[in-house]
Amino acid sequence: MKISVIGCGYLGAVHAASMAKLGHDVIGIDVDKAKVEALSQGKAPFFEPGLPELLVEGVQSGSLRFSTNMSDASDAVTHFIAVGTPQQKNGSGADLAYVNGAVDALLPHLKAGDLVVGKSTVPVGTAERLAAIVEPTGAQLAWNPEFLREGYAVKDTISPDRLVYGVRRNAGDGLNSKARSELVNSDRSAVDILNEVYEHAVSLGTPLVVTDYATAELVKVAANAFLATKISFINAMAEIAEVTGGDVTELADAIGYDARIGRKFLNAGVGFGGGCLPKDIRAFTARAEELGRGESLAFLKEVDAINLRRRDRVVELVVDALGGSAYQKKVAVLGLAFKPNSDDIRDSPALDVAVRLHGLGARVIATDPEAISNSRLRHPQLAFGSTVEALADADAVVLVTEWTEYKDLDPARVASAVRSPVIVDGRNCLDPGAWRAAGWRYIGLGRR
Ligand code: UGA
Repeated sequence: MKISVIGCGYLGAVHAASMAKLGHDVIGIDVDKAKVEALSQGKAPFFEPGLPELLVEGVQSGSLRFSTNMSDASDAVTHFIAVGTPQQKNGSGADLAYVNGAVDALLPHLKAGDLVVGKSTVPVGTAERLAAIVEPTGAQLAWNPEFLREGYAVKDTISPDRLVYGVRRNAGDGLNSKARSELVNSDRSAVDILNEVYEHAVSLGTPLVVTDYATAELVKVAANAFLATKISFINAMAEIAEVTGGDVTELADAIGYDARIGRKFLNAGVGFGGGCLPKDIRAFTARAEELGRGESLAFLKEVDAINLRRRDRVVELVVDALGGSAYQKKVAVLGLAFKPNSDDIRDSPALDVAVRLHGLGARVIATDPEAISNSRLRHPQLAFGSTVEALADADAVVLVTEWTEYKDLDPARVASAVRSPVIVDGRNCLDPGAWRAAGWRYIGLGRR
């Protein structure tokens, strides 16, 4: 199928490359020239395992092209909208400027029978509004939320754990009868087209939910709100464990054995970040307030507050570990990305901790396997270095992104590099026994 993907960021670039891998003929469109040039040469503009290989394969075979020119989307019959919906500059709602701009720019290139598929995370009600703009061209609109996780994006796109299609229940409502019959009788339904796009996943028996626009939009934000709540729940338990002498990791293991609860997403630590969970719970809350149902999601404000408190706590623990003042002390910050296997620093708790310690006068040397260049652009005031440079003569170490190479550090060897063997494990990912045995003062979050 001829497919266009509008927006080639973390979501769109992976979607475009994965669609090409699945045998489609794909054009990715983005306004950012440098990004399009890199992608056209098969180079990934960000770190995502497995993506470079797919880009090279697609570009070399000719099934994957990139352009800054929207008219190159004219040949495609299915158009994915994969642009960002960041938090508004002056509010907590989602900024829909890119989605609206993408649809407006695409409109002149749409033809009867085309399908526009929204992938971006949007406030409920957006699809209904956009359908009214798209349908007069004879094209249809579907909403098909994306559940990919950064770091596993290729796998999650090619083999998703579920597919959700939000489709128009009464296609053409509001159109005149001729336009409506053209639309309704257009070659194939949105569901048929999406089933062809996702033939690989569908043939493997991937669960499929076909629903209306509102439900599809809500599924996405509800899923992220649930995940954020799960993390803040266990972080709230960590806060209680801290004042009672309990251990949140053992608590998580014990409640996680209950299949109704499950152990996943119950890792207490410095909290969640990234380009999705934080802004999605804020936008969802703002939308509920607009809908007069603010009280239904008021708890998400608490989820956000618990999450942000964890960053304060990590900084506090580091300062305590330094004897009450960070001033002029050398601190090794291990990790900058919001999670491992990513170079994404959007709303990263790790980067936030580094910046705050720097603000307290500490001599921070921050390190990360992939996220240093993004961090340097955002916070040029910070000093960055290799793991060895960060650890050398450090007065304290704080681990804030659980990259495998940090989890695998040998506590005895690291002890001989630092000035003072004290570590704050902001991800509760190290073995306290092993570190203590090597002479370290180990401090976890909510751990004994
Ligand atoms: C999240 C969702 O997991 C995806 O399903 C969704 O598609 C995506 O947002 C999106 O909306 O696009 P992602 O932001 O890539 O994916 O990252 P997650 O793996 O969900 O991690 C989010 C944050 O939670 C990270 O900072 C991570 O360190 C933190 N986390 C995760 C914890 O603090 N504890 C845990 O137990 C799990």
